[in-house]
Amino acid sequence: MERREKEALISEIKNILERPVSREEKLRDIAELLRNRVEHYDWVGFYLVEEDETLVLGPYSGEPTEHVRIRFGKGICGQAAALRRPFLVEDVSKENNYLSCSPLVKSELVVPIFKKGELVGELDIDSHRLAAFDESDLKFLQQVCKIVSDALF
Ligand code: SME
Repeated sequence: MERREKEALISEIKNILERPVSREEKLRDIAELLRNRVEHYDWVGFYLVEEDETLVLGPYSGEPTEHVRIRFGKGICGQAAALRRPFLVEDVSKENNYLSCSPLVKSELVVPIFKKGELVGELDIDSHRLAAFDESDLKFLQQVCKIVSDALF
């Protein structure tokens, strides 16, 4: 993704966050924007942290998933939550602790959302391409998560 396109997306995300609509609607619009505009983002969704170390599926864009509640430690999302760090998987078929949403998914990137040092959610992105994500996706999505956290949590 070009730097200019990333800057354009960040500015559109800021506009979405200023709209007078619910948090739910804003998160859905951001998920849709990212999936529609970035070619290798095939599923984009937010998981929100609930008490008792559980992630609950929030707004998303893409095919419905059966993984609506994920315990910390389970799958890529749960491991990212337990370790409180991003998790980049180049080839999900090589990952033992993985929860499959679709056989089409080949790689995944999970970025934690923090508020005042506390984990409040995650941005989860799946791709149908092997090794689709790199450091620049991670940096970009961390920036997205920071803006989202500042505005909505
Ligand atoms: N693959 C994830 C589960 C969530 S779906 O990708 C939407 C995981 O292993 O945690």
